[in-house]
Amino acid sequence: MSTFYNLKVIDVVQETSESVVIAFDVPYELYETFDYKPGQYVTLKFNINGEEVRRSYSLCSSPVLEEPLRIGVKRVKDGLVSNYINDNIRPGDFIEVMPADGRFYADVKKSNYKTYYLFAAGSGITPILSILRTVLVTEERSYVYMFYGNKSEETIMFKKELDTLLQDYGDRFILEHTLSRPKAKWSDLWNTKQEEYRKGRVDEKSITWFINEYPLYAQNAEYYICGPGAMIANTEKALQQIDVPSSRIYKESFGGKVVQQEVAAIANAALNARLNGKSITTTIPQGKTILRALIDQKYNPPYSCEGGVCSTCKCKLKEGKVHMHNNLSLDEEEVAAGYILSCQSVPMSDKVTIEYS
Ligand SMILES: Cc1cc2nc3c(=O)[nH]c(=O)nc-3n(C[C@H](O)[C@H](O)[C@H](O)COP(=O)(O)OP(=O)(O)OC[C@H]3O[C@@H](n4cnc5c(N)ncnc54)[C@H](O)[C@@H]3O)c2cc1C
Ligand code: FES
Repeated sequence: MSTFYNLKVIDVVQETSESVVIAFDVPYELYETFDYKPGQYVTLKFNINGEEVRRSYSLCSSPVLEEPLRIGVKRVKDGLVSNYINDNIRPGDFIEVMPADGRFYADVKKSNYKTYYLFAAGSGITPILSILRTVLVTEERSYVYMFYGNKSEETIMFKKELDTLLQDYGDRFILEHTLSRPKAKWSDLWNTKQEEYRKGRVDEKSITWFINEYPLYAQNAEYYICGPGAMIANTEKALQQIDVPSSRIYKESFGGKVVQQEVAAIANAALNARLNGKSITTTIPQGKTILRALIDQKYNPPYSCEGGVCSTCKCKLKEGKVHMHNNLSLDEEEVAAGYILSCQSVPMSDKVTIEYS
């Protein structure tokens, strides 16, 4: 069962015009509960316009430094929670936070001797920054090469922090920025800071350039990718082309824009659900997912991201048919075995029976 804790916001920093960084105070008695690995995320719960909503945010702080938990939240166009956080959250507020989770993390150890390749785009920097800082502080023999893509110079999150890390760890940390749409005059930026920025996206071509430019330092290499879906796919493809084994590639998706396929979901389909040892019978109103139908009826199904990414809402389809809008977490075997993401599933038959484990 997912437990939330009311944590106090102790700092809110306007990181760029589109993003804020929020720091939480974790009381001493919750230190262990909120322990985390670099790369993991926390889930926040809000009640906005009378509806309970949850979203996941990667921790950008480092677990090995004595510092508060921090998250960085970038506005998404028309996004409910990201804009709510950017517009409303102030120091002194309390937010319900679920402890850290996630399989995207680095196993950082003092004795490691590795080459880390870190690829980030936009707000995908958050878990990468946590990994970067933790590795630099802990693994004195490891080397980090990082490639970071943004639209323009103004939208680069954590620019100052990264510059400081470059100053402090320049002997084993290399960072290349790339900009896809420099805001004002690219020619000025190019002329004055030619060596600081590349032009273009984090794509197959630029990744291939990057890997050639910065060959392995230690043979033991790991590759971490976080950004929009296309960026992750392109980076993975470029790495596979140079025979990087997939066991060395770690990816985190933040979800993102879903082109919702028009499907003729059944209105008011009957839902039978087995949840927390109880049998529930209800209906799924038109346009609602199975998860939302249960939440609206004041049940407490498990979920975190509500974006098809984390699989917390996974359940087994025992009867009927559903359509999943988005599935970024279940693999083919799980789907073949009948598992579905309840946060993404709408009914395609008059009756649907599911079971949460
Ligand atoms: C594991 C995990 C970690 C995450 N970490 C971070 C983080 O550190 N920082 C951060 O800012 N966000 C992070 N996210 C994304 C975050 O959880 C929200 O999805 C994001 O803030 C948008 O929520 P929203 O309520 O504003 O948008 P919604 O109201 O949910 O969506 C509005 C519209 O925007 C689209 N959309 C939703 N998310 C995105 C997106 N990320 N990019 C582009 N379009 C989108 C939707 O498809 C929809 O069309 C993470 C997500 C996951 C799953
Ligand atoms: S709640 Fe994360 S995939 Fe459904």
